Order: sequence, then C-alpha cells, then structure tokens
Amino acid sequence: MAKIAVLGYGVVGSGTVEVFFKNKENLEKKAGQELDIKYILDVRDFDDSPYKDKFVKDFDIILNDPEVTVIAEVIGGLKFSYPYVKSALEAGKSVVTSNKELVAAKGAELLTIAKEKNVNFFFEASVGGGIPIIKPIHTCLEANEIDEIAGILNGTTNFILTKMIRDGMGFDEALKIAQDLGYAERDPSADVDGHDTCRKICILAALAYGKHVYPESVHTEGITKVTLEDVEYADSGGCKIKLIGCAKREEGNDISIGVFPAFVKDDSQLAGVNDVFNAILVRGDATGDVVFYGKGAGKLPTASAVVSDIVSAVKHDKTSRSLTWTDSEQSFVRDFDDFTCADYIRVKGASKEAVVAAFGKVEFLSRKNAPAGELAFITPVMSEKDTVAACEKLIGADILGRIRVLDY
Ligand code: HSE
Repeated sequence: MAKIAVLGYGVVGSGTVEVFFKNKENLEKKAGQELDIKYILDVRDFDDSPYKDKFVKDFDIILNDPEVTVIAEVIGGLKFSYPYVKSALEAGKSVVTSNKELVAAKGAELLTIAKEKNVNFFFEASVGGGIPIIKPIHTCLEANEIDEIAGILNGTTNFILTKMIRDGMGFDEALKIAQDLGYAERDPSADVDGHDTCRKICILAALAYGKHVYPESVHTEGITKVTLEDVEYADSGGCKIKLIGCAKREEGNDISIGVFPAFVKDDSQLAGVNDVFNAILVRGDATGDVVFYGKGAGKLPTASAVVSDIVSAVKHDKTSRSLTWTDSEQSFVRDFDDFTCADYIRVKGASKEAVVAAFGKVEFLSRKNAPAGELAFITPVMSEKDTVAACEKLIGADILGRIRVLDY
C-alpha cells in the first residue's frame, strides 16, 4: 500500500482528492498496489468534508511519517512550497507538483536533489493543465532535436482574448468571469502580465534544451495593452491575437525565448484555440510540427495531471525517472534585441511615405471607422532592435500599438 499526502486543499488540491477517490480502484490497478491519501495539509478547517479525519495543519507530521512515500504539492507560490518540497525530497519522498512558479524558479535544484535521493520529482500539471506535455516531450519526442516550441499556455488570458475577439467584451468583465470559473491565479496580474506563461515556457525550454531557464532572463509582455482596435486590424489581416510563449533553438546552442501577444494567421493551428483551451506546438527535427491541445486550467483537468504523476511516482518508487536538466550558470538565452519577427504597428500622425521610408515594404491594414491620421501596417521580418530604431524614425508620430506577428 502506498500512502500519499496532498499539500493544499484549494481548487487543484480538492480536485486532486476528488479525482483520486473517484478513480481509486482503477488507479490501484495501474499502480499495481493499494493506494490511499493519508493526509491533507491545509491551515483551514474543513469540518464538513468527508475527508475531515485526514486534515493536518503541521507539515512535520507528514515529513516525519515514514509511511508517506509520495507528496502532491498544490499550494502554489514559493513561500511554503519550496521548503516543504525540498525537505520532502531530502527525506527520500517523491514529490509531484502543479506549481509552475516553483519549477520555473527552483527546478534544477529540486531535480538534482531528487536524483541524489533516487526519488522522483514530477510536474506534468505545471504546464498546460490537463494536457500531457512534459512526459511527451521527455519521452515520446526524445529522438528529436526540438527546433521550436510555441504555445498558448495561459487559459485566463486566452479566455479574455476570446471574449474580446468574439463578443467585443471589455477586459475587466472577461477577467471577472475567468476568476469566477477558477481559471485565474490568486493574483491575476500573473496571468494578464504574462508571468504565468513565462514560467511555463521556461519549464518547456529547460526540458527541451537541457538547461534551466530563469524567468528573469525572458522578455515578458502581457495582454493589458491589447485593444479592440488591434483586434479589428488583426481580423482585417486574417489573423487572431494570442498570448504566445515561444522558445527556439539558435546556432551555437543558444535559445531565443519570449512571451508576448502575437498575431497568428487564421489558418495557423494556434488561431482556433479559444476560451480556456491551451495548445502547444512542438517542432521536432524528425516529427515536424506536433500540437498538444486541451483544457489548460481548471480544477479537474489540472487534478488529472497531478493524479497521473502520483501513480507514476508510486510505480517508479525504486528508480527515479531520468527527467532532468542542469542549472545554467551562464545564461544561454539570447538578448531579446536580436529576436526576429514581423510586427503589426498602429500609429497616429505618420504618412504612408514616412512609414515606407522607415520600414521598407509594409502591408497596410484597414478597419471600419478608423479615425483620420491613424495607420496600421505589418512590417517585414526584422530584429527587435531594428524595429525599435525604425519606430524612432517616425518623428512626431504616436505609436498606439505594437504586436508581434508570428508564422506558425
Ligand atoms: N492561471 C492559470 C491559467 C492556471 O489561467 O492558465 C493554470 O496554470
């Protein structure tokens, strides 16, 4: 019998317990032994819960109980999760987590401890909610060099952008609905400012390229500056606006990586990904493009990935899996100034001639009822620093909006 502890009884924690007990019999068949959740750690009281006898408030009870061999950390943040997970691994217990902040900040260190102690540290739920992506990149695609990964990795922002695109709904109203549905982070700025997407692309890049990628080294923009005018121009150019996290292998084993809203063509596999759904496109040198699609947030989809990792950890209790990457003392992330793509630019007070003189051959876009003096256009493919320099040549004009244009 394997005994498990769940740290945190919020949205994902309660979902984990629910999925575990609903599917227990089947999970036991897959694990090859009986399973039980012995403890649930939470500071709150749940006197009416059918699991009320399992609740504890002191992590040391779990840490010091030799019967507990697998811990599921679903608290989130770093303050409690980091010391709890580190001490659990050091004590020889396997840990599974949905906590992308933890994996993005401390993944290399925690994987090293897990390896030293011959236990597992799994985090399928940290990226893409219920979508299998960590194990597929690590195992099914291991024959490939990964040329590129690009994903819609945040359900909340995709939900908001979908409401703006389809219904012309305002940002605040759409965010409120996403929060009520349990998709958003406790502090929604982590969603709308792009930090959640950044953590997730860092995890995928570390997995694909073998070295830890620290979120601080990644150029990150959110969706707060995207307007309904931009949505209209995107539509006229046959595009949708999506918040994209992308990482690309460059010469010399460096990578380019960034998080920003982007125009994607209507016929792209990413353009039709709406509401809370996520999609991750992985471009392998042997497979070509492979796309993983599903619900990227929410109680039960995320719990599905946590429970699956619990079963994997039980099955591999004597041998740690090879899932790992090294720390990167020297960043292998290229300066974002060298990031290369086309851009959509909306400008007031510039003539078409001035735009062409600054950028070269551009594609002008149109929208109904555009005010006099407003222009919108798509630039040629240029580096970030050349685009900034070209914008500066539009002397006296106001740049009203700038969104990158990606070709997936
Ligand atoms: N806030 C996150 C999202 C939750 O909206 O995608 C899942 O990581």
